[in-house]
Amino acid sequence: MQEKLTAIVAGVQESAPKLQTRAEFEAYKATISGPKGALTDVMKGMGKVPKEDKPAMGKLINEAKTAVQAAFDRVVERIEAAELAAKLGPAIDPSLPAPDSTRGTLHPIAQVREEMVALFRRIGFSVAEATEVETEHYCFDALNIPSDHPARDMQDSYYLPDDLRVNNVSKLGDEKYLLRTHTSTVQIRTMLESKPPIRIVAPGRCFRRDTPDATHSANFHQIEGLYVDKDVTLLDLKATLDHFVKTIFGPKAKTRLRPSFFPFTEPSFEMDFFSPDLGKLSNKWIEIMGCGMVDPEVFKAVGIDPEVYTGYAFGMGIERIAMILQNVDDIRYYYQNDVRFLKQFA
Ligand code: PHE
Repeated sequence: MQEKLTAIVAGVQESAPKLQTRAEFEAYKATISGPKGALTDVMKGMGKVPKEDKPAMGKLINEAKTAVQAAFDRVVERIEAAELAAKLGPAIDPSLPAPDSTRGTLHPIAQVREEMVALFRRIGFSVAEATEVETEHYCFDALNIPSDHPARDMQDSYYLPDDLRVNNVSKLGDEKYLLRTHTSTVQIRTMLESKPPIRIVAPGRCFRRDTPDATHSANFHQIEGLYVDKDVTLLDLKATLDHFVKTIFGPKAKTRLRPSFFPFTEPSFEMDFFSPDLGKLSNKWIEIMGCGMVDPEVFKAVGIDPEVYTGYAFGMGIERIAMILQNVDDIRYYYQNDVRFLKQFA
């Protein structure tokens, strides 16, 4: 009996790994543990075993049953895994692009931002950044914007709660935090951190409490330029802006500086450009940025000697440039994430 059991277990262990399908397995299993199976047969023989040998025999039978069951469990596990793999098809390579999705592109605003940044980098500007959360000092006071200026009004700016602490945004005193209303904050932070010569552009998101319409959005983007060195003159500003306009709008584009006012530049200008080949916008002066020579008061606020250094600054809305270049007549399209709109610039 013992020999039979050993033979059955050895046979099962040899045959089980060769079983490929469920049907094969069921047929084989019947020959071992089915009603007429070899193991069942041995168990039936227990009746004839002398009483004193029964416990030992019972133990052997149990061991054999356990071994056979373990071999069968492995077969079932293997067949089930094979069935699942067949259902799933060939293994996928997760590193390949999804075949049913199109490739994403940069947002149209980001495309224009990159084009502008690349242009300025080629003529020696580097990119500077600062946070979108700012303090009144860096957004206004250091830029010579007086406390009664309307830009500082609760109606025009987004202030943050007084008890808020923003660890990565340094305050000068206990002034309020707010969302920056322009990227001129980056001028101040950069001039505090580095010594002239400084030549930077600062692209970034800005916030103003505007009621959205075709040309206004509470959330928009600016690009700021700043050049500080000895002997920087208005001619340098004009030359840089001419280069910018000709590169972006074509070689026939012209610039015009119109006297204006900003607290942080003196003299200050609005820059208009004019192009003969710009579709509907051809042959008229279009205002696109504010600029001027850095006001001595601003230099004093950041510890740069205005007797030694001069500089120019300019700032413009990226959306405004994008709308002209991309022929978009409503700024709100840029923020609606409508794929039909975005696809046109892919
Ligand atoms: N910061 C100004 C604005 O937001 C633009 C500007 C920048 C004007 C630099 C002059 C110099 O309107």
